[in-house]
Amino acid sequence: MNAQPQRIEHQLTDKGYVPVYTTAVVEQPWSAYSATDHQVWAQLFARQQQILPGRASSAFLDAQRAMHMNAHEIPKFDDLNRTLRATTGWELVGVQGLLPELDFFDHLANRRFPVTWWIRTPEQMDYLSEPDLFHDLFGHVPLLMNPVFADYMQAYGRGGVKAHGIGADALANLTRLYWYTAEFGLIRDPDGLRIYGSGILSSKGESIHCLESNAPNRIGFDLERIMRTRYRIDTYQKTYFVIDSFEQLFDATLPDFTPIYARLAEQESIPAGNVLDTDRVFNRGTGEGWLTDGDV
Ligand code: PHE
Ligand code: FE
Repeated sequence: MNAQPQRIEHQLTDKGYVPVYTTAVVEQPWSAYSATDHQVWAQLFARQQQILPGRASSAFLDAQRAMHMNAHEIPKFDDLNRTLRATTGWELVGVQGLLPELDFFDHLANRRFPVTWWIRTPEQMDYLSEPDLFHDLFGHVPLLMNPVFADYMQAYGRGGVKAHGIGADALANLTRLYWYTAEFGLIRDPDGLRIYGSGILSSKGESIHCLESNAPNRIGFDLERIMRTRYRIDTYQKTYFVIDSFEQLFDATLPDFTPIYARLAEQESIPAGNVLDTDRVFNRGTGEGWLTDGDV
């Protein structure tokens, strides 16, 4: 079996080309990984291990160690699952790629984290436009060992099922929250600002940029503000939101969002790079290198 990435197929419909998603959970075809696949993992892993001490949150680094992830070879989901199940009751399930929203939410609501089984090619070391094994496993999985973050992710899944029933605007609001926390979140660790978002943790360039560049805004976590804020999918973020702790994140997202969605429906979205008077600003970005359009 060939373990190279298989692109998500597209089908022409009256809405143009739309991706054909595979919803099925698949067994990780571990013995089919090639030597190149293991090398790509080893290189990416070693590279991030150089960069992340002092940049990633201690919760992430501790959890990664506890899971015994290493550069030697692509981890086996079964091995990780033994540790994960015993620690927070989460488990990984293998998938081919992005899932339909409701399937993704349903997995999270049941403490199952979908992990893309295939890994990028050597030509894609620095960038690829869809999640692969390195992003999902290296970036997202360790924090599922943290009890508070583990509960946050499950609550997010349940909230997603609910938002899906409310409508597209509610879903967009909720997706922004995920984007600015699970994917691109920063946290105030005792020793300073640190990364916990997996979109950052799996990227060498953004791991440095998000903390050390003066270009982006770094702004204190504010639930409704985040749920109004557009984001970037093809460049580094213009704004990062900073939590004080995972408890703060969990507590802020505990209330029923139904009245919040109704309130937000009356309000304009906020461009990705804007700073508001009400923001708690850690860094006001210089905006250097920003593209003027392209916020999602
Ligand atoms: N409390 C949210 C709701 O009622 C659910 C949620 C929890 C959403 C955590 C995101 C994160 O919809
Ligand atoms: Fe992700």
